Amino acid sequence: MDSILVRGNGPLSGQIPIAGAKNACLALMPATLLSEEPLTLTNAPRLSDIRTMTQLLASLGAEVTALQEGKVLATSCHGEINPVADYDIVRKMRASNLVLGPLLARLGHAVVSLPGGCAIGARPMDIHIDALAALGAEIELKEGYLHANARGGLKGAVHEMRFASVGATENFLMAAVLAKGTSVLKNAAREPEIVDLARCLRAMGAQIEGEGTSEITIQGVDRLHGATHPVVTDRIELGTYMLAPAICGGEVECLGGRIELVESFCEKLDAAGISVEETARGLKVKRKNGRIRAVDVVTEPFPGFPTDLQAQMMALLCTAEGTSILEERIFENRFMHAPELARMGARIEVHGGVAKVHGVDRLKGARVMATDLRASVSLILAGLAAEGETVVSRVYHLDRGYERVEEKLRAVGAQIERVKGE
Ligand code: EPU
Repeated sequence: MDSILVRGNGPLSGQIPIAGAKNACLALMPATLLSEEPLTLTNAPRLSDIRTMTQLLASLGAEVTALQEGKVLATSCHGEINPVADYDIVRKMRASNLVLGPLLARLGHAVVSLPGGCAIGARPMDIHIDALAALGAEIELKEGYLHANARGGLKGAVHEMRFASVGATENFLMAAVLAKGTSVLKNAAREPEIVDLARCLRAMGAQIEGEGTSEITIQGVDRLHGATHPVVTDRIELGTYMLAPAICGGEVECLGGRIELVESFCEKLDAAGISVEETARGLKVKRKNGRIRAVDVVTEPFPGFPTDLQAQMMALLCTAEGTSILEERIFENRFMHAPELARMGARIEVHGGVAKVHGVDRLKGARVMATDLRASVSLILAGLAAEGETVVSRVYHLDRGYERVEEKLRAVGAQIERVKGE
């Protein structure tokens, strides 16, 4: 297995291009199941999770061709569709559950494996099931698979989710676009990835209003047509690279970044002593002056502070002046980076969903292990600021969500390399 070797070095300077959003692309790709005509996605990120979704869609009978080195995905689904999403693929990636809504809408039935738990939490599917049941689907669990049936087709309905789940909002949207009549989703998730999916579906002929608010209205149509859609900028990759100059000093411009994607995050950066300036091409980030100040962070659904930036923010706060309190409210087990950061000299106490980070002067390089995607990149950020060498092992997690991370960081002066494992 590969590992990443990082040497703590001085200030960074230059530009980092930000890719299209993994989590938007993973929801956009299954939308191809909704139409017989081609859907082309531009600005796609080159990631192993995207390859897993490609494999899943191919197993269902769709075609996905990666063009321009993977930056463009040409998809289509005009032949016979297999309604079964197999455990062997679904268990690798939870976002596989996003084929449930579109399969149901197109075929009237679907058989999708339950994903099982993952490192950051149990992540059940009850909100998805309730949302699709509201549209008339009958869903049963048999031998680890959800069997969903909507004989006679899905019917528009008003439904309020108990929690604003991102994935359940996406499944509901993709099911309701082809349902008979009007659907209203209350307490819908408001993430930019939802807005991106709604825009793409609209380009395919869907009638949707209210995306980006907590109430989305969908008027079902008989069929969707083809479209070309650019994937929205990855706000989590953006926030991650914004933290690099915050942690190491220097000045980095993140190309393609926009404040509205990371507003609550920028408020916390400001309080910690980091300045963010909007430029014609993106966001320029540097330290205001002196040491980082401690800040308290609570993760929440968008527009709150994203859980997917909590681990990286913790890496920054490890060397802040004072004590920061980080409260994780989205996932029940998302502090696994804390004991790894502690191996580098960080002082962190974790009690349930709350982590207290007592700032130290300097972190020290160490061998650490990545436990999930965002944890792995937080350890790289910490390594960039630490004295000496840090080796992050199990970096396959990293390749799920960050394209060419070594190349991007090296371009701004970081000392980072991949060490090939057997
Ligand atoms: N939940 C339930 N029941 C459900 C669905 C969700 O209890 O039926 C719970 C989850 O267990 C979790 C919370 O609700 O505690 C939030 O889950 P949500 O459904 O909103 O998240 P998701 O759709 O599974 C997406 C991203 C995650 C990101 C979360 C929250 C994708 C492919 N994944 O997951 O991204 O953390 O939203 O913003 O869009 C990552 O990229 O590292 C990542 C984990």
